[in-house]
Amino acid sequence: MEGILVKYPLILVNLKTYREGMGENAVRLAKIAEQVHIKTGTSIALATQLADSKVVIDASETPVFAQHVDPVGVGQFTGHILPESVAEAGCVGTLINHSERQLPLEVIKATIKRAREADLETVVCVDSVEKGRQVAAFAPHAIAIEPPELIGSGISVSKARPEVVSGAVTAIKHVNTKIHVLCGAGITSGEDVVAAQKLGAEGILVASGVVKAKDPQAALLDLARSLRH
Ligand code: G3P
Repeated sequence: MEGILVKYPLILVNLKTYREGMGENAVRLAKIAEQVHIKTGTSIALATQLADSKVVIDASETPVFAQHVDPVGVGQFTGHILPESVAEAGCVGTLINHSERQLPLEVIKATIKRAREADLETVVCVDSVEKGRQVAAFAPHAIAIEPPELIGSGISVSKARPEVVSGAVTAIKHVNTKIHVLCGAGITSGEDVVAAQKLGAEGILVASGVVKAKDPQAALLDLARSLRH
C-alpha cells in the first residue's frame, strides 16, 4: 500500500536515540502517529534510528525520515549513510544538520544536493536566523529553526523565543518563498503549536514532548489537533 504523503503543515517527530523510540517502541509510535493522522488529518512523520526504519515502514503507513545521511555516492565508501540506500529502504526524507549532528556549511550544501538526487525530502535544522538565511540559498524543502538551549527543556521555542521563529520565517522566505519553515525545541502542547503557526511556522519538529511523554498518543493528539491545515 502507498504510504501517507508528507505535506505541510507537518509534525515531524524525531525519535533521536531515546530508548522509548527504539525497535518495538519505534513501531508502536509509528502506529500511534498513523492513528492520530487518521483522526485529525494532520501530516505526521517520524525520524527513526536508521536500523529501525525498515521495520517501521513495513509496520505502518507513517512516513519515515532518516536522522542523517552522508553526501557520498554509490561505490567505494564504508561506514557512510548513502542517500539512495535510505530511499530504497522506503524512507521519504532526511534530517540534515540536526543540532546533535552538526555539519559544516559546505557539507550541508553537498548533503542537500545528494539527498535531492535520491528523491528524499530535505529538512535542514539550523540554530540561528543567520544560519537559516545561509542554508536557504541551498534550496532544501524545509528548514527547522531550533535554539539549542531549549532542546529537551520543555520550554517552547514559540513562547520563549518568538522573535527567532518569526525572524527565521522572514529571512528564509526572503531568500526562497518555496522553503517550508518549521520550528522546534521544547514543544510539548497544542498551545505551543498554535503559537508557532501564529509566528509563521508551517509545522514543528518535536522529540521529548512525544517520545518521552507518559501518554505519547495523548501528547501527539494534542499537538495534531492544534495544527491548522
Ligand atoms: O529534533 C527535535 C528536537 O531537537 C527538539 O527536541 O525534545 O525539545 O522536542 P525536544
